[in-house]
Amino acid sequence: MSKKSGKNIKLAVVGASGRMGSEIMALAGDAGFEVTAKLDKAKSWGVKAREVDIVVDFSLPAGFDQALNWCVENRKPFVSGTTGLSDKQRKQLKQAAKHIPILYSANMSVGIAVLSAMLEQFRALEDWDFHIDEVHHNQKKDRPSGTALLLDEKLGAVLDRKLPAPNSIRGGGVPGIHQVWAMGPEEVVVLQHTAFNRKVFARGALKAARWLFDKAKPGLYDLSDLYK
Ligand SMILES: NC(=O)c1ccc[n+]([C@@H]2O[C@H](COP(=O)([O-])OP(=O)(O)OC[C@H]3O[C@@H](n4cnc5c(N)ncnc54)[C@H](OP(=O)(O)O)[C@@H]3O)[C@@H](O)[C@H]2O)c1
Repeated sequence: MSKKSGKNIKLAVVGASGRMGSEIMALAGDAGFEVTAKLDKAKSWGVKAREVDIVVDFSLPAGFDQALNWCVENRKPFVSGTTGLSDKQRKQLKQAAKHIPILYSANMSVGIAVLSAMLEQFRALEDWDFHIDEVHHNQKKDRPSGTALLLDEKLGAVLDRKLPAPNSIRGGGVPGIHQVWAMGPEEVVVLQHTAFNRKVFARGALKAARWLFDKAKPGLYDLSDLYK
């Protein structure tokens, strides 16, 4: 229920007809949201500001652009899990976050949030070799995955060096497997996260949306902010 009105939070879903959008809509009601706008490539942005409290976007980079612009114009909080963003789009996120609350994460699962925090421990093994692998379904458009890039950026900062490009495997219906290999001369450590289904990302995104709606302060947040 909305803290402000006691009613369900009015939610616009961008990428509504997609795999992730469908999961979001299936779970939204139980999470205290009412889906008041469903947007995809075919449906234009003729949405009125009063119909929407918050926007959740799982689409493509073009959908992300439209959603972000609409949120800035209408001063609405924005949650996005869309991957494959350009450097320019990442800069636009930072700029927009001066005006509205934004939560962006290339992976909305708590498991990846915790795995990402665990990478700090690899500072003790900084002279080892490291590699990131990812496996996803054969319809995935971006490569490497946004999650692999998130882990690569985090681990690169921990070790203070550039890592080899992540390995990407595409096949079947795999929702997402990520592995971080730490390889020493006489031993190996492997951290692995496996998503069993897309509900895990949808639940995480709705939890993030609820958190961001209550926060209601401009800024650029990521999933780790929920677990601090
Ligand atoms: N952060 C996470 O945890 C997480 C987890 C899983 C996936 N993802 C990411 O989420 C995104 C969506 O994944 P998916 O598997 O759901 O993809 P998908 O099944 O291909 O769905 C994409 C959706 O985006 C819509 N779309 C395309 N262009 C648009 C535009 N210009 N404006 C509005 N909507 C537009 C499509 O509409 P049409 O049907 O009309 O083309 C479709 O509904 C991808 O970037 C994926 O990598 C993130």
